[in-house]
Amino acid sequence: MVGFPAVRMRRLRENATLRDMLTEVTLEPRHLILPLFVCPGEGLANPIPSMPGVFHWSVDRLPEVVEPAIARGVRSFLFFGLPSYKDHEGSAAFDLEQPVQRALRLLRENYRDIFLIADTCMCEYTTHGHCGHLTEDGRVDNDQTLELLSRAAVSQARAGAHMVAPSDMMDGRVGAIRAALDFEGLSDTGIMSYAAKQASAFYGPFRDAASCAPAFGDRRGYQLPPMNPREIIRDALMDVDEGADILIVKPAGPYLDIAARLRAKTNLPMTGYVVSGEYMMLQTAITAGALDRARGLLEYHAAVRRAGCDLVITYFATELAGLL
Ligand code: PBG
Repeated sequence: MVGFPAVRMRRLRENATLRDMLTEVTLEPRHLILPLFVCPGEGLANPIPSMPGVFHWSVDRLPEVVEPAIARGVRSFLFFGLPSYKDHEGSAAFDLEQPVQRALRLLRENYRDIFLIADTCMCEYTTHGHCGHLTEDGRVDNDQTLELLSRAAVSQARAGAHMVAPSDMMDGRVGAIRAALDFEGLSDTGIMSYAAKQASAFYGPFRDAASCAPAFGDRRGYQLPPMNPREIIRDALMDVDEGADILIVKPAGPYLDIAARLRAKTNLPMTGYVVSGEYMMLQTAITAGALDRARGLLEYHAAVRRAGCDLVITYFATELAGLL
């Protein structure tokens, strides 16, 4: 009997060496970015109630979380901050003495071969919890927000960020931030833009972690509509035109189709963000005994790579790197 090629391939795959040789997609520690939450104070590692296993770190204790990650091959960190004060404009976002800026300085001074990214947004810094400038009638003013974001990005770059990651989703923010960085002589600082950031239920646990739940309303006015894939792609490609260096797709798991479509439209590097709700979904399934920890985590994150993302932002980065 003549064997069909496909059938022979299946038999050949019984050879473990060949199986290994033919692996198309890999997930390696170098692909992972660990998000970190930094807070004011000293000697603190406060558990985040909505995200067991994730902590608010005071800057002095960062080595405890950064060093094990580096030891396993994770080289990049994405910073979120809890400021020591909030106001209407979110001015702590561009205060060089706030936790994110202090963390960036500390790591830049003390570690080699790492890559530091600062999340650039206003919602952690404003009393109202929205991602930008709030007008008297309770709307987020797009253009006035660009000014605030630009100041935040410049401050983060000065403190030592290799890249800033605007997550606010205002129109024109990438271009505005690029212009501000260049104007300040910070043209070596890159922009990793949240290009495809959908209005998602999966950010639920994060709102606790960064204490940034909007005091009223929601973010649907400025985040992208999940049911409009064409609009999402169009919007993401605008960030490319404005000068983004790397694009983020967020959340990752529920939007693998978006990642794959975007991959077909741009040759820029892409990052998938496995967000707080995905973290808790996986943790809960593992704790319930419904999902094998090692195999489940590997399969879930490898899917993000297979969809076309070069990098993966994940709260599991250190643990995953240990499994790889
Ligand atoms: C703030 C921001 C959010 C996340 C990252 N940056 C929250 C939001 O947009 O509501 C979510 C990250 C996560 O859920 O892990 N703009």
